[in-house]
Amino acid sequence: MDLFEAIEKRYSYRGAFTGAPVPREDLVKIVQAGIQAPSGNNEQVASFVIVDDPKLLAQIAEILDRPVCNTARAMIACVADPRPILRETSFAAEDCAASVENMLLAITALGYATVWLDGVLRRDNIAQRISQLLGVPPGLKLRILLPVGVAAEPGKQKEKLPFDQRAWFNKHGG
Ligand SMILES: Cc1cc2nc3c(=O)[nH]c(=O)nc-3n(C[C@H](O)[C@H](O)[C@H](O)COP(=O)(O)O)c2cc1C
Repeated sequence: MDLFEAIEKRYSYRGAFTGAPVPREDLVKIVQAGIQAPSGNNEQVASFVIVDDPKLLAQIAEILDRPVCNTARAMIACVADPRPILRETSFAAEDCAASVENMLLAITALGYATVWLDGVLRRDNIAQRISQLLGVPPGLKLRILLPVGVAAEPGKQKEKLPFDQRAWFNKHGG
């Protein structure tokens, strides 16, 4: 799939997945796309746990009980080292976001669906509970979780504002 087609076809999927597997070969391709994202000062503070063990997937789904997690054949956890790298500045959030967007596009290009789970991890110690299951070392933060599979009921990207309401040449607001 061409890059611009993947950008157009990417959408947040929250429904159930079919039983179709996500082979490790594809998971490696997806995460390699995340690894190749830019990072602040090339410090590469984002790391990834690829979950495909059915027992572990079920344990995560117990914590995050929703169709997209209950039926995911794999999940990718994006973990960040939040320590400042340059003059007190941490780029951990930006690094994770860059990696995750690359992975969303790779997931789409390979014919799978996913959703960027982030806000939901910040409630009820959910990130900490999943971190424990995944052996995330103290000091590192689980920031984003991507359940991956083949969508049972494919959807569409949410509507975006038109170009001329969000972008202008040379002067903000046109
Ligand atoms: C920083 C960030 C946090 C998000 N957190 C969640 C989340 O916790 N749960 C969820 O279902 N979707 C989450 N999303 C997905 C957004 O809701 C989704 O991208 C948005 O509604 C637009 O829909 P689209 O992805 O189909 O274009 C998050 C997206 C971003 C970029």
